[in-house]
Amino acid sequence: MKESNSTTDPIGQNLIKLISNVCFSVFVFTVLIFTVIAITYQPPDPWESSRALTRVFTQVKNATFQTDSSILKTGEDMTTAVAATPEASPNASMDTITEAVIEKSEEKLRNLTVRSDCEDLFALNCSDPRVLIAIEKFNLKTFKSIVFLEYQTPVNGSRPSECDVAWRFRNKKDKSWRKYRDFRRFRIGHGENCTFKVINARGWHSGINARRPRNRFNMTKSGENAKVAPLFRDDEINDTIPVLGSDMVFRKGKYLYYSRGGDYCKGMNHYLWSFLCALGEAQYLNRTLVMDLSICLAATYTGSKKDEEGKDFRFYFDFEHLKEEASIVEEGEFVGDWKKWDKAHKKKIPVRKVASSKVTPMQLKKDKSTIIWRQFDAPEPDNYWYRVCEGQAAKYIERPWHTLWKSKRLMNIVSEISGRMDWDFDAVHVVRGEKAQNKELWPHLDADTSPDALVPKLQGMVQPWRNLYIATNEPFYNYFDKLRSHYKVHLLDDYKELWGNTSEWYNETRLLNGGRPVDFDGYMRVEVDTEVLYRAKTRVETFYNLTSDCKDGINTC
Ligand SMILES: *[C@@H]1O[C@H](CO)[C@@H](O)[C@H](O)[C@H]1NC(C)=O
Ligand SMILES: *[C@@H]1O[C@H](CO)[C@@H](O)[C@H](O)[C@H]1NC(C)=O
Ligand SMILES: *[C@@H]1O[C@H](CO)[C@@H](O)[C@H](O)[C@H]1NC(C)=O
Ligand SMILES: *[C@@H]1O[C@H](CO)[C@@H](O)[C@H](O)[C@H]1NC(C)=O
Ligand SMILES: *[C@@H]1O[C@H](CO)[C@@H](O)[C@H](O)[C@H]1NC(C)=O
Ligand SMILES: *[C@@H]1O[C@H](CO)[C@@H](O)[C@H](O)[C@H]1NC(C)=O
Ligand SMILES: *[C@@H]1O[C@H](CO)[C@@H](O)[C@H](O)[C@H]1NC(C)=O
Ligand SMILES: *[C@@H]1O[C@H](CO)[C@@H](O)[C@H](O)[C@H]1NC(C)=O
Ligand SMILES: *[C@@H]1O[C@H](CO)[C@@H](O)[C@H](O)[C@H]1NC(C)=O
Ligand SMILES: *[C@@H]1O[C@H](CO)[C@@H](O)[C@H](O)[C@H]1NC(C)=O
Ligand SMILES: *[C@@H]1O[C@H](CO)[C@@H](O)[C@H](O)[C@H]1NC(C)=O
Ligand SMILES: *[C@@H]1O[C@H](CO)[C@@H](O)[C@H](O)[C@H]1NC(C)=O
Repeated sequence: MKESNSTTDPIGQNLIKLISNVCFSVFVFTVLIFTVIAITYQPPDPWESSRALTRVFTQVKNATFQTDSSILKTGEDMTTAVAATPEASPNASMDTITEAVIEKSEEKLRNLTVRSDCEDLFALNCSDPRVLIAIEKFNLKTFKSIVFLEYQTPVNGSRPSECDVAWRFRNKKDKSWRKYRDFRRFRIGHGENCTFKVINARGWHSGINARRPRNRFNMTKSGENAKVAPLFRDDEINDTIPVLGSDMVFRKGKYLYYSRGGDYCKGMNHYLWSFLCALGEAQYLNRTLVMDLSICLAATYTGSKKDEEGKDFRFYFDFEHLKEEASIVEEGEFVGDWKKWDKAHKKKIPVRKVASSKVTPMQLKKDKSTIIWRQFDAPEPDNYWYRVCEGQAAKYIERPWHTLWKSKRLMNIVSEISGRMDWDFDAVHVVRGEKAQNKELWPHLDADTSPDALVPKLQGMVQPWRNLYIATNEPFYNYFDKLRSHYKVHLLDDYKELWGNTSEWYNETRLLNGGRPVDFDGYMRVEVDTEVLYRAKTRVETFYNLTSDCKDGINTC
């Protein structure tokens, strides 16, 4: 019946059916197209390069920060703007002691001294400019990875043929423009044509007579600390907390204030990701960020294996650089000034409280309140600071990585370690720890980083008896002993005295910590290890050179 029905159907009915089918298909197809466009379309990203940097940093898409915790990148490691070759900097040519500079001063000297007998050479006078020239030439030839900046006039060493001299330098691999100091002792002999030459040079920081006396420093913060024995400080570091000064200065400012969120006591990568979001928002809103310098260090990095509060930002990062690059005010100073103002004036400071991170930076752009106070009251994970920078906001907020450098005090340790090896060393980064134990995600890592596997692999990449620095999260000091019959092995713990209780670092961090000694914790170790690794001549990486396992677990590469 049905079949006969359909055959006897008038043409019109079939046509309508056909048309409606076609229409529906067109409709479905159109929806599909729009969906595809909606999914794949992303507006042009003005910060593509920073996105790339961001990827480098986290290498995770879901922001759980399961990154390699044995290496730490900060702003200076990601800078591509400051060229790796110092010559490319407009500044560098001005104060770098190059061969051309030395030749010039030599020529000047030749013009001045018309003496042809070399009699004046025989009683060595360290302040003779020709001594410095000899030393400058020697250094330039010996330390190829170093850029020499200012020299001081040499002074007497401990014996008549010796001179001590101090200079400032930077490593060519260091992408920040920080300068470091070295002072060494040189034995001076005679060269041809009334010149001096260096017979030999002692090691890193050996020229103690040329070491500038350090400024004595009086504890300034409130009387209670004044009794602590006089301490010394690196007079090239100025990371004091800036004060706003007068009431009026405070009132004129515009502030962005973040209450503590769920980020507190999370890992350091999480901290950085969140902190830089806050700073990025402040810059977007053209406001001063109120900054809590007190950090909670997550258990993974502490000696006690528990979260530890009250760590100073300045233990880890360069606050001086941050102060120069960004507008910030310390929380304690800020809250003090705020209270003072509200007490002294009838009219309170205008505050806009923002409870949810769903309020976007773009919505706050027009707000004229003196203080915008984000409060992060939502339950975890909606109370993470970095939520502010997600979604639409990600297109407007740029994380200012360049403001974040590693602590200069830690970098002094890095310089000291590399300097003691005369900057002539190779390094291997050996990732072990939790990853080596996790056979599911990294099936071969443990075996590939065992001493028996390391020896033959390294022999293919590093010459025998080179200085070999091992940057590692392997806690057992003697683990790498097998390598000692092939290389001069250096581990971070070989340099314990650099943060021990007689060290400069100890004195200086104690000063920041109200007179209490500071632990050299796991995070500081990672920072130092990372930077020494970057200064090596040959660098062997776990995940490209030692094992075929993938960095982020099985099947991720
Ligand atoms: C993020 O990734 C980790 C491992 O890569 C996984 O365990 C976790 O469940 C992921 N989280 C989310 C929210 O996708
Ligand atoms: C040049 O030197 C000045 C001050 O010495 C410094 O602020 C600036 O960052 C330097 N520029 C570069 C490109 O190194
Ligand atoms: C040294 O003297 C020569 C000629 O005697 C002159 O050409 C040159 O410019 C002088 N150099 C300096 C640095 O005074
Ligand atoms: C050493 O040389 C400097 C510079 O040439 C000179 O000023 C000083 O008097 C000399 N000292 C002695 C002890 O000769
Ligand atoms: C340096 O040593 C020379 C002799 O070697 C001596 O004449 C001179 O006084 C010494 N200078 C200082 C500053 O001690
Ligand atoms: C010393 O002077 C002579 C003649 O002026 C010159 O040939 C020679 O190259 C000079 N030696 C050095 C090391 O400068
Ligand atoms: C340090 O304090 C002492 C005594 O309180 C004072 O005499 C000295 O001038 C101070 N030094 C500095 C550098 O402030
Ligand atoms: C340190 O820096 C602050 C500004 O942050 C400045 O006011 C102060 O004078 C500096 N102190 C020294 C000793 O340079
Ligand atoms: C940022 O704020 C400063 C001072 O409040 C003002 O001079 C400047 O014009 C502002 N810039 C922008 C882009 O709003
Ligand atoms: C430094 O530490 C050592 C061993 O831990 C201890 O014997 C010594 O008394 C300490 N010195 C100071 C000045 O605290
Ligand atoms: C550290 O401070 C102590 C006094 O508290 C001082 O004796 C010592 O020389 C200082 N060490 C360094 C390396 O500055
Ligand atoms: C490590 O592996 C990378 C990537 O395969 C390669 O470029 C580099 O030369 C290797 N390093 C050494 C020391 O062989």
